Amino acid sequence: MSDGLENVVAAQTVLSDVDGKAGRLIIRGHDLDELAGRASFEDAARLLFDGFFEDLPADLGPALGAARVEVFSEVAALDTGLLDRTPIEAMRALTARLGDGDDLATALRLMAAPAVFTAAVVRAQAGQAPVAPDPALGHAADILRMLRGAAPAPAEAQALDAYLVTVCDHGLNASTFAARVVASTRAGLTSAVLAGISALKGPLHGGAPGPVIDMLDGIGAPENARAWIEAALARGDRLMGFGHRVYKVRDPRADALKGAIRRMGAAGAAKRGRLEFAEAVEKAALDILKAHKPDRPLDTNVEFYTALLLEALAFPPSAFTCVFAMGRTAGWLAHAREQLAGGRLIRPASVYVGPTPKAAA
Ligand code: ACO
Repeated sequence: MSDGLENVVAAQTVLSDVDGKAGRLIIRGHDLDELAGRASFEDAARLLFDGFFEDLPADLGPALGAARVEVFSEVAALDTGLLDRTPIEAMRALTARLGDGDDLATALRLMAAPAVFTAAVVRAQAGQAPVAPDPALGHAADILRMLRGAAPAPAEAQALDAYLVTVCDHGLNASTFAARVVASTRAGLTSAVLAGISALKGPLHGGAPGPVIDMLDGIGAPENARAWIEAALARGDRLMGFGHRVYKVRDPRADALKGAIRRMGAAGAAKRGRLEFAEAVEKAALDILKAHKPDRPLDTNVEFYTALLLEALAFPPSAFTCVFAMGRTAGWLAHAREQLAGGRLIRPASVYVGPTPKAAA
């Protein structure tokens, strides 16, 4: 038995390959560097969907824009009960209102859902009215417009696009596996995506970047980093944004996102010197983790610079995982369709270690 299914191969996929020793991510035959900052999210999603959906248009943009408009009507179901929940719980509840199906129209609605619902939830929690989608805009630009009520700077839309592409797929991570398990039962794409969202929200997976901001704010200044980190590890805490099941070296997505932050320059709402401060904290954390766990390579993962990028784009930390879901939904959907196309029901075995029934007298 493999604890946590480590190294267990549970699927064949043409979608992405994570090389943990080389620190390399390939998405449908393309290195991450070829895509992040170059392709739009719509193009990356089309690349993932190619061959898995009938009638796939050459440009997904107009259909995705129309899907944003279509799902916006569900925002009316946001009530005070949902607004008391975290953004990801409220976004998941609205997504659950969409019907199940296996076709491209369902998939596009599911890609639109986290974008439209998260913006509406964040605004409603701040006492602001929702902003209706503009189907003519690119997905990333419209997300920022729906969030803020004003058009973003082009450099900000490009940075969000680079982020969504960077996280669009990543092998058989926990949320993608959850989505594939549900897809294998033929429950439908909405059910598979809801499973993905639910797995993603945990702090060991997509829930890490909010706590990265807490860590940076707790440290406050570079000279406090070592003492803060050592105290956290002495308490038995994990450092969010570090360590990975597959990568034994630096996660290549960390540098893709750092590059996107740099390219955003002054356009971002980043606090002055924030990137340099984060780099100092990262350096201290890597030094200390090396001494803390000499036998276990613990390097920077995607979530550390995700936190910086999404903060610079003025998303509230409570909604960071929702933004991750906006990108990863493309991967979940492609994996669900790949599973449906060739896979059997996923049903592993367990070893019973409980008591034996008493023999009948
Ligand atoms: N900080 C401190 N110690 C750590 C960290 C960390 N970030 N990560 C792992 N360790 C330690 C564990 O405490 C454990 O120590 P032990 O053997 O003394 O108990 C050892 O390293 C091995 O940890 P596992 O949990 O077995 O490693 P696993 O491969 O399951 O963990 C994970 C991967 C969950 C990402 C882990 O590194 C972690 O918790 N990181 C912090 C949370 C985080 O950043 N999550 C985002 C990951 S990227 C993504 O999912 C998108």
